[in-house]
Amino acid sequence: MGKVYLVASGKGGTGKSMFAVNFGATLAKQGKSVVILDMDLGMRNLDLYFGLENNVVYDVHDVLKGVCRIKQALIRDKRFERLYVMAASPSRDDGTLTPLHMQVLCAKLKCAYDYVIIDAPSGIDDGLVLSSAGADACIIVTTPEYSALRDADTLDRALLELGIKERCFVLNKVIAEMMSAGYAPRLRDVTAMLQIPLAGVIQSDENIVISTNLGVPIVLKEGTYIQENFNKITERILAL
Ligand SMILES: Nc1ncnc2c1ncn2[C@@H]1O[C@H](COP(=O)(O)OP(=O)(O)O)[C@@H](O)[C@H]1O
Ligand SMILES: [Mg+2]
Repeated sequence: MGKVYLVASGKGGTGKSMFAVNFGATLAKQGKSVVILDMDLGMRNLDLYFGLENNVVYDVHDVLKGVCRIKQALIRDKRFERLYVMAASPSRDDGTLTPLHMQVLCAKLKCAYDYVIIDAPSGIDDGLVLSSAGADACIIVTTPEYSALRDADTLDRALLELGIKERCFVLNKVIAEMMSAGYAPRLRDVTAMLQIPLAGVIQSDENIVISTNLGVPIVLKEGTYIQENFNKITERILAL
């Protein structure tokens, strides 16, 4: 039986999609079967970050509405043995999708794949309720800014209310010099603001922007500190 991880954030632009892509790619490189679902309906990015935008025929909305079968909407990334991406619909949800639809989809995917990673929309509204419906655990991606951290804490409480007990966070876009100069919250301030375990820290690095722009997951570049960092973060998340 597989496991469903939701990747969520309070604020937008913290790096959820980047994280979902590279977490999934790291697991796939380890030989696991992985499905990454883009649930940021109306704001899809995941296909671009994998460079698969020209391969999208059906999307998650089509699957949930019964327009196509699950397999028809899974786009295989040929750079991996078993990694599949399901794109978000280009338009926002029209209100017809229910959490039950999502639960059924996740239950089916869990039977066939080792890991299902859901790239959630930002915030705590209906999009979160829908995308979290079938999740077993959640990874909150935040940046080291007080506003983002407060929103991450609000999200964390919302997730608890939604029944997701297993939660951790990743601190992304860290600039060490800003932290040590006191221009950004330090690590101990960050961990004091959130009640959940820290699964890892990712530095701000322009190579990450380049990789999302080029549609090549950064962990595909062998021997980099980023790849090594993702291995460690993935290990920590799986051990939680
Ligand atoms: N660690 C990082 N260093 C530099 N840029 C990053 C980092 N993480 C993400 N980004 C960039 O920030 C932007 C937003 O990231 P994205 O994953 O799309 O955020 P979200 O899905 O949370 O809205 C993208 O251009 C991405 O390349
Ligand atoms: Mg995103």
